[in-house]
Amino acid sequence: MNRRFYITTPIYYVNDVPHIGHMYTTIAADTMARFKRMCGYDVYFLTGTDEHGQKIEQAAAEKGLKPKELADQVVDRYYKLWGKLGIQNDSFIRTTDNRHYAAVQNVFETLKKQGDIYAGEYEGLYCTPCEAFWTESQLGDGQLCPDCGRPTVRMKEPSYFFRMSKYQDMLLEHIEKNPNFIRPESRRNEALAFIKEGLKDLSVSRVNFSWGIPVKDDPEHIVYVWVDALVNYISALGYPSDEDSLFKKYWPANFHLVGKDILRFHTVYWSTILLALGLELPRSVFAHGWWTVEGQKMSKTLGNVVDPFYLTDKFGIEPVRYFLLREVTFGLDGDFSYKALIHRINSDLANDFGNLVTRSLGMVEKYFDGVIPAPDIFNGDDVRIHTLIAETAAQYVRFVDEMSLNRALLAVWDIVGALNKYIDEMQPWSLAKNPTLKGRLSSVLYTVSDGLLSLSNFITPFMPETAVKLRKQLGMDGTASFKDEEELGVTRVLKPGGKLGAVSALFPRLDEKDIMSSIHDSVKVSAGSLKTQPAAEFIEYKDFEKVTVIAGHIEGAVNVPDSEKLLKLSVNDGKGVRTIVAGIAKSYTPEELIGKKIAVVENLKPAKLMGVESRGMALAAFDGQRHHVLFLPDSVPAGTRIK
Ligand code: ME8
Ligand code: MG
Repeated sequence: MNRRFYITTPIYYVNDVPHIGHMYTTIAADTMARFKRMCGYDVYFLTGTDEHGQKIEQAAAEKGLKPKELADQVVDRYYKLWGKLGIQNDSFIRTTDNRHYAAVQNVFETLKKQGDIYAGEYEGLYCTPCEAFWTESQLGDGQLCPDCGRPTVRMKEPSYFFRMSKYQDMLLEHIEKNPNFIRPESRRNEALAFIKEGLKDLSVSRVNFSWGIPVKDDPEHIVYVWVDALVNYISALGYPSDEDSLFKKYWPANFHLVGKDILRFHTVYWSTILLALGLELPRSVFAHGWWTVEGQKMSKTLGNVVDPFYLTDKFGIEPVRYFLLREVTFGLDGDFSYKALIHRINSDLANDFGNLVTRSLGMVEKYFDGVIPAPDIFNGDDVRIHTLIAETAAQYVRFVDEMSLNRALLAVWDIVGALNKYIDEMQPWSLAKNPTLKGRLSSVLYTVSDGLLSLSNFITPFMPETAVKLRKQLGMDGTASFKDEEELGVTRVLKPGGKLGAVSALFPRLDEKDIMSSIHDSVKVSAGSLKTQPAAEFIEYKDFEKVTVIAGHIEGAVNVPDSEKLLKLSVNDGKGVRTIVAGIAKSYTPEELIGKKIAVVENLKPAKLMGVESRGMALAAFDGQRHHVLFLPDSVPAGTRIK
């Protein structure tokens, strides 16, 4: 068996900053890479950035930057994001890298020398933002771009062409013979239909802009951005150099993971280029689905682009990884909403998984002083759990291998459910009452703890840090690793006699109301409303002036009876003392607040909260976990207006 594994993401354009779409593909690829590494494979995981082309030239010009300067800025965002998310890529390719530049020129030269690239003239309808030429038949009335709906322009220019038509039959045959080459099935059919319409030769150079890789002996021509971009998958491995063994070792790729938007480029353009070069085709091109946000297409003009930094700061990296991979069937489209995210975290992670861990290990602490008990004989109930885990492991491996990541997680959660049910039925707390049943209690809690070890193995590729935390709680260090997939399904490997680490909740429960109110309005998209309103809506100064914010001096503070959240503050506003009720009791004790100067909205309409009339509002920032009251320096007199 070939134990090496090469997986790639698309290289992302640098005309825009990363959003959850980019994060999604990269997290999925990272999960697959981690899974293979865990199972003993020699993995190479590549991601990078696509930095050439007219779009980037234009985006840079708009910002008054050189294209490379813009690329450097955006690439830095990508480095930071992948660093923050703990993405374990082995290499990061930029199309402005020297190694890439040379490889693209080499590919072009090679194809030109063998007659697969020839000079001609291109005429067509061109969409500048999409950098795509279209034929009349592809465009309907108004000759709008079928991809973006914007007007196209008629263009005629000298261009080199790649004899793609020549490789049509070879490609069809390859697709027929290799059912896994294009995944999922629906995308395979889509690609087949496109090829069967007949492949035309492909225009592979441009003379209308300069930001790109020039054709070596005809530098007025810039290599078409897609040919440039696709070659990254081999240039990153050192192609065409023989000295570098990476290409020899890792090509062909096992997976090109891409979004459905770029299916054709990968399955048709790239494949025919590889066929022309006499190189092997990738084992699999997997095109996943598209994320919308709260039911709408993500777009800068709608202002609903979800920022991965914001999202993971607020919810944690691993819950977000889990959500993205669990929420939709991998391959289909999905919709992102904060509510769905919160629900998933609370139900799957905090409740089902988190509670299983705390209740199980809590009992090991209570009944066995935190030492994993040696099991007595296993009965049918226990064996059913061991068998379930072994069988689920096999399914899990199959699902991950075919990129059905959500189904792999579902399978793992079957075990979570089964273990919770097993505990309910075995009732260890009843067994513990009877000293003669100590042996039975040992077998049950051993089976549960060993099951938790299996779970931590299964979640390792998806939530690596959580997996390590759980291992620590089970008294083990390091991260899970196996000699092969089979070993992953082996149960009863936890060593009796081991001492548990400190047991603590793996996932905090989120308060939906608090979180939703803390999400800034521009990102808390409500479907429809943003269609008509620009993202940044300005108010006039006179509107702002309607709000009187003043300095207030807290002279007294007490908890509101029967409320976990509310504090009753007595605030001196410079004229007198008023009562303000603030929902900050989970973040501050009354003692911490007395004597402090705070910012208060003076003219808010009075309202009754839990029976107490509140006049005004204390300003605070809520970060998703706790409130931070806006304290003012002591020297500011009460009643001072804040503007
Ligand atoms: O196309 N939902 O780069 P790009 C899911 N440079 N995935 C999404 C997404 C969404 N809403 N939006 C983006 C390019 N993606 C070329 C690729 S490869 C040789 C060259 C992901 O910055 C998805 O993987 O437009 C998609 O294919 C990719 O980002 C497009 O990134
Ligand atoms: Mg795109």
